[in-house]
Amino acid sequence: MNKKIKIGLFGFGCVGQGLYRVLSQAQHIQAEIVKIGVKDLSKPRTLPAHLFTGNAAEILDDPSVDVVVELISDAEAAYDIVTTSLKRGKHVVTANKKMVAAHLPELVALQEEYGASLLYEASSCGSIPIIRTLEEYYDNELLHEVKGIFNGSSNFILSKIFNENLSYATALKQAQGLGFAEADPTLDIGGYDSRSKLAIIAAHAFGIFVHPEEIFCYGIDNLKQQDIDFAKENNFKIRLVARAQKRAAGSINLSVIPQFVKSTDKFYSVENEYNAVLVEAAFSDQQAFIGKGAGGNPTGSAVLSDISALTYDYRYEYKKKSKAAGLSYSTDQLLEVYIRTNSALPELGLVPGWESSHFNGGSYIKGKILLSRLLNIKQALQQAGAFVATFSEAEAINAESKTADTKTVVII
Ligand SMILES: NC(=O)c1ccc[n+]([C@@H]2O[C@H](COP(=O)([O-])OP(=O)(O)OC[C@H]3O[C@@H](n4cnc5c(N)ncnc54)[C@H](OP(=O)(O)O)[C@@H]3O)[C@@H](O)[C@H]2O)c1
Repeated sequence: MNKKIKIGLFGFGCVGQGLYRVLSQAQHIQAEIVKIGVKDLSKPRTLPAHLFTGNAAEILDDPSVDVVVELISDAEAAYDIVTTSLKRGKHVVTANKKMVAAHLPELVALQEEYGASLLYEASSCGSIPIIRTLEEYYDNELLHEVKGIFNGSSNFILSKIFNENLSYATALKQAQGLGFAEADPTLDIGGYDSRSKLAIIAAHAFGIFVHPEEIFCYGIDNLKQQDIDFAKENNFKIRLVARAQKRAAGSINLSVIPQFVKSTDKFYSVENEYNAVLVEAAFSDQQAFIGKGAGGNPTGSAVLSDISALTYDYRYEYKKKSKAAGLSYSTDQLLEVYIRTNSALPELGLVPGWESSHFNGGSYIKGKILLSRLLNIKQALQQAGAFVATFSEAEAINAESKTADTKTVVII
């Protein structure tokens, strides 16, 4: 594509406006936004009214639009816009992780059938260029693990709690006020946003396509002062960590769980709306990518990069998919965890050797549990208001609450 690209943009919120700013300052890209689809035409806008439409067909039916950039907050409407565009041979750039993760196999098939390209770098970890890096740079590497802090708003909240002693509620309000939280904050703090990104990243890292609903995710919404005290007593911070790990037998484990991290951990100093991705591979060893995971300009910059890639006809080849023979998704993984509740715990299916401690008005236990078991009892854990977090093995052995009675050992 070596002519000036005509863009039909959907969405003029945080990211749509960010893209507009970024695009208007980019010097070497031949691209122009010809129309902007929004939901509420009566809203005051910073651009001339003639640029906006409330009718999606005005963009989708316009043969002069080469590229549709989809940046709306409604995942179902986004699915219709993206699939219709691909079927009409229009290239698409999207930032919508929820929509991409839920429909990835179909979106790959549509690209193959209609020849149009779908790029979504901005969908995973904002400004960190992880998807194209996994697809191209790590093309032939033997990847062991990709893990990270994939959600800027929950990381912002955790940073405020641990660095400034803010309450959870105040930190959440600040995150919303600064526009880091998504339209519905439960997606962020419940871990669902990270889970969608993990599903996308697993497809490009390992070539496996797993529907997000099959992946265990536990958020920070049940975090209580006892958990914060426990972390501080043991010199930990808490981070919400998404992890795709290849096991020896060719299985891939995926999870999103809060994690206790100590000062030597790379995630310890990743603060506020920053995201981080750690890639561990056989030859390149460990590499860390850190950057802003949210906000109009950083996310707009990732969208710009995709638009630019389309000018040289770039498309994801899903290279790992053909190399994924023998790899399969598995929840058969033993995790070292801490589970705290202020009411009765559900039957956990514990691995012998658990430790249980009681403190005023609640209790926590720490020990090992299978990921598959966590997946089965997630609803019961949530109903009990439980907070769940993982340790690395060495950390688990040493961590204990100094204010809790640690005498009881529970074996079920
Ligand atoms: N915010 C971030 O930092 C960030 C980072 C990475 C990825 N993303 C993703 O980027 C996308 C946009 O997020 P955002 O934060 O920019 O959202 P936002 O600020 O809430 O803006 C949403 C925009 O979508 C429009 N919209 C909603 N439903 C629509 C529909 N059915 N048809 C047409 N337009 C519709 C809204 O129109 P009105 O203006 O008329 O209300 C608004 O302009 C989402 O998929 C999000 O997950 C966001």
